[in-house]
Amino acid sequence: MTTLPTEPTAASAGFAHVSVMGDEVIEALRPVPAGWVVDGTLGGGGHSERILRELPHLSVLGLDRDPAALQAASARLAPFGDRFAAEHSRFSELAQVCERRGFPFLSGVLADVGVSSHQIDTAERGFSFRQDGPLDMRMDPTRGETLEDMLSEVTVEDLANVLYEFGDIRRSIGTARMVLEAFQQGAHTTSALANRLAARLPRNRSIHPATMVFQALRIWVNAELDELQSLLDAAPPLLQPGGRMAVIAFHSGEDRLVKQSFRERAPGRYGEYVRITRKPWIPKGREQEENPRSRSARLRVLERAVPGSMGRYGGFDGDDNDEGDEG
Ligand SMILES: C[S@@+](CC[C@H](N)C(=O)[O-])C[C@H]1O[C@@H](n2cnc3c(N)ncnc32)[C@H](O)[C@@H]1O
Repeated sequence: MTTLPTEPTAASAGFAHVSVMGDEVIEALRPVPAGWVVDGTLGGGGHSERILRELPHLSVLGLDRDPAALQAASARLAPFGDRFAAEHSRFSELAQVCERRGFPFLSGVLADVGVSSHQIDTAERGFSFRQDGPLDMRMDPTRGETLEDMLSEVTVEDLANVLYEFGDIRRSIGTARMVLEAFQQGAHTTSALANRLAARLPRNRSIHPATMVFQALRIWVNAELDELQSLLDAAPPLLQPGGRMAVIAFHSGEDRLVKQSFRERAPGRYGEYVRITRKPWIPKGREQEENPRSRSARLRVLERAVPGSMGRYGGFDGDDNDEGDEG
């Protein structure tokens, strides 16, 4: 019998990330038929480990665009043997990966979108302004343009759109000018840029003034919304009947995409797909207290219906009024 580690192994010990809404992910995936689940955001492997431990009818293919995450999670999950496999790939490559592996249908797809704590805490990755690092921010450091490359080429108008759309920044033209002036005057590291912005942006008591700018820049560098949309387009048709897709989003723009996409797939109770969560599930109070990062998490679940068993799951878990459910 395989002995499974109860603590992180040496290879994964340096990869700090607390998984959010683990109980709810297990609850969402428990009823799916036996087979492979794609964990599209493997990260430190926390969700995958719970699936492998608690749902013995499932195997996990973990994807991540970050090679450091793949390495740490693969070491952590090696004791599960051939129930676990990993691939360096992006959401937008899901269909190709499944085709190459000969997976015609999946039992589930999980995505816990955004960055890992490990990425934020690794200064040289350039995600954080609390530690000085290069203007990089790529989740996949093996390909694509860095933030520095992108700031060298962008116009004020295009950057303003990025800040407005991905950071909810209202005075986006003025803020875009500040970012580009600081960059052109030599602010070429994360803390240099954040300090220049902090000196000029209005103070907010709860967060650093550069927080939303950095969030918007990260989403831009990694094309996160385009990536999420391609996952939302590609994954549901890959599910077998009774299979489920579960997505955890942290940013209102991401959650809106998930909500719209699930609603288009499942406009009523009796189509090819069923929305298991009419309203998003949110973390329990205890989790919110213990892990403040979880507070903005929203989990939505879609199921590919089993033909001839309409209403097997009793339809939605909430009432029919889904107004104001974006949290
Ligand atoms: C919030 S972490 C996931 C943590 C993981 N659920 C756990 O329990 O440890 C998000 C991970 O998804 C990866 N990621 C984000 N967008 C991606 C994409 N479009 N394709 C593949 N991986 C992506 C990031 O590199 C990061 O490692």
